[in-house]
Amino acid sequence: MFVKVHRFFLVYELSMSKVCFNRKLNRGFGILHAGIMGIRKLIKRMIDTTGYTLVRLPHPENLYDRDGLISIHNHDFMDDPGFQKAYARGVRAAGDYRWEWRVHIGLWAARTALNLEGDFVECGVNRGFLSSAIMDYLDWDNTGKTFYLLDTFAGLDERHLLQENSAGIDRNKKHLDLGFYVNDSQSVRANFSEWRNVNIIQGPVPDTLKQITATKLAYLHLDMNSAPPEVAAFTELWQRLVSGAVILMDDYAFIGYEAQKRAMDQAAAVKGVVIASLPTGQGLVLKP
Ligand SMILES: C[S@@+](CC[C@H](N)C(=O)[O-])C[C@H]1O[C@@H](n2cnc3c(N)ncnc32)[C@H](O)[C@@H]1O
Repeated sequence: MFVKVHRFFLVYELSMSKVCFNRKLNRGFGILHAGIMGIRKLIKRMIDTTGYTLVRLPHPENLYDRDGLISIHNHDFMDDPGFQKAYARGVRAAGDYRWEWRVHIGLWAARTALNLEGDFVECGVNRGFLSSAIMDYLDWDNTGKTFYLLDTFAGLDERHLLQENSAGIDRNKKHLDLGFYVNDSQSVRANFSEWRNVNIIQGPVPDTLKQITATKLAYLHLDMNSAPPEVAAFTELWQRLVSGAVILMDDYAFIGYEAQKRAMDQAAAVKGVVIASLPTGQGLVLKP
């Protein structure tokens, strides 16, 4: 991948040096060549105005293009057998969302939090893709930690939907109708029965936050696609998060979730931190 990315720049540099070399030999031809380069730029700019763009790609099979993210950068984490096994466990729990880069960030977050004192919490579990992948990746039963998994297991809380816009209500209904949001907790419990030290808490956040009995937390994943419970969980659990704890917000920078981003930015400002916006759409904070 890197070689190919470098080749991209190399090709570019070669053409530029060709312009310089030609200028020495034949100024007129050099100007012509530079003119061709200018026309190329002009054509690219014209295409850009249509909403499409023209990019010189590495070999197509080395392009990452899924889950709202197109990148020519290195993503060889996908070749790591540990990643592949964890991702496959996530797929077994929920089906394949083709969100490898997001899962890679989630595994990194969990791996980082593993070295800290404290338990793990996920608010918004659904069928358990990311948490299953993490538990497989970290060999959960040997960590000595408890994973608290909070969800209504019936979609978004209507009280919160009423506070938000109608788009959220429609989206929730669609996700439940299509089966993307799970509507029973039994299948979720069966999925997680493979591990000990899992505490599945059913009901709406923030009402259920008091059922988290851990006094120290090292990892918090917020993935409820709804601002009020995410802000509440972030704010109420903040005190229990140890220094260095990882807080990952799944849909922080997602298109269509701008109100949620604004609400989380405000909540973070109150705590004196800034959320890193990742190109995967996730938000990331390390507790100071
Ligand atoms: C996008 S899914 C979570 C995906 C999950 N993290 C994964 O790895 O597959 C969002 C979940 O948030 C849950 N949810 C939304 N609002 C909630 C609330 N106030 N309390 C508890 N769960 C909620 C929904 O039931 C849904 O299962």
